[in-house]
Amino acid sequence: MHCERVPLPLIAEQVGTPAYVYSTASMRNQVLALREALAPTGEPLIAYAVKANPNAAILTTFAAEGLGADVVSIGEYVRARAAGIAPEKIVFSGVGKTADEMAAALDGGLYQFNIESAEEAEMLSQVAQAADKRAPAAIRINPDVEAGSHPKISTGAARNKFGISMAEALDIFGRLDAFPGLDLRGVAVHIGSQLTNLSVLETAFTKIGDLVSGLRDRGHEIATVDLGGGLGINYDPRDALAPSPADYGAMIRRVSACWGVRLIVEPGRLLVGSAGVLLTRVIRVKAGAVHPFVVLDAGMNDLMRPALYDAWHAINAVNPTGQQMTADIVGPVCETGDTFALGRIIDQVDAGSLVVIGQAGAYAATMASSYNSRPLISEVMINGEDWAIVRERETIQSYLVTPPLPPWLR
Ligand code: LLP
Repeated sequence: MHCERVPLPLIAEQVGTPAYVYSTASMRNQVLALREALAPTGEPLIAYAVKANPNAAILTTFAAEGLGADVVSIGEYVRARAAGIAPEKIVFSGVGKTADEMAAALDGGLYQFNIESAEEAEMLSQVAQAADKRAPAAIRINPDVEAGSHPKISTGAARNKFGISMAEALDIFGRLDAFPGLDLRGVAVHIGSQLTNLSVLETAFTKIGDLVSGLRDRGHEIATVDLGGGLGINYDPRDALAPSPADYGAMIRRVSACWGVRLIVEPGRLLVGSAGVLLTRVIRVKAGAVHPFVVLDAGMNDLMRPALYDAWHAINAVNPTGQQMTADIVGPVCETGDTFALGRIIDQVDAGSLVVIGQAGAYAATMASSYNSRPLISEVMINGEDWAIVRERETIQSYLVTPPLPPWLR
């Protein structure tokens, strides 16, 4: 099994396991497909959602493709800028921006803040005034649409913490427009992640279109509409195929045809999700009461999605023998939740076999922890026949030096 032209056993041998492996070609293809799909809508800003995978090599790859960034913390902002993403291509989202974060992003420059409440707008206006600036901003709308994704990653229902309701939006926009430190110029929406049904997105976007007309009727200038991210990818081959970028682009074109605004999209998973795998080795196969346990050297601390969202990820042997087994695939972490799959039919594997867990480019390495004192793992990027380590494995030694003991224990 290869990633582009590099055999995965070579990576395992040279870098060790577990390790994340990313394909440059896959990321570039996704960018190309999305860009082509959105081209007829004008010059949209494609702002990659950094949270999906903030690895510097990935950000630099996207910067070279001309992408912008959607950031949700000053940490992500700094990483995006360090990778060469221009300030005028950066959108700052998130419900809990602090005054310090606002000031730093304003100072460094950005395309716009997506603000999520009147309270936040007030703070931003004050921060901008103190810096003798006007902060470019859009209001994030909560369209009260059930995204139908996992409840933990659906964001567009009224009960969720995100955005300002449609009912309040007209009045709040009027009030905020008068804030001296704000340059309010648009609206934003993001209803959730791993969406596999375009119709919920279309419902939300249609509501946004109505709101734009309503705002213009009241004399507000609306120059930008940020449609968020959320387009899902294919994890389980038994599920219906996720909509393609082309379908997504056609829907956006249809809905936004008469808006006369600059569109922004914030894709994360779509660009990197399928570009990565988690390369891991079987520590041992342990007999079990129901099925044998295949114990991997990767655990829930490395890839949290199955434990956190019951997410389904493909699991395949790097060197399949042609035989199969039914097994519970687990990690070494001391929690029952450290399970990648239960009763899964997989390629026959034994102690020492290499295994890949698929679709591990998004919300995978970035959500890892060192729980159970397991060092964060290596990340490797492939480009044709070339490969490089783009994040070094953490060492156990680092646990002994940080943090220092308090003086009374030395
Ligand atoms: N824009 C905003 C405001 C967001 O909150 C998100 C994701 C995105 C864009 C990018 O969404 P995407 O295109 O990647 O679906 N950890 C979860 C996913 C959390 C998504 C959070 N927000 C998972 O592993 O499924």
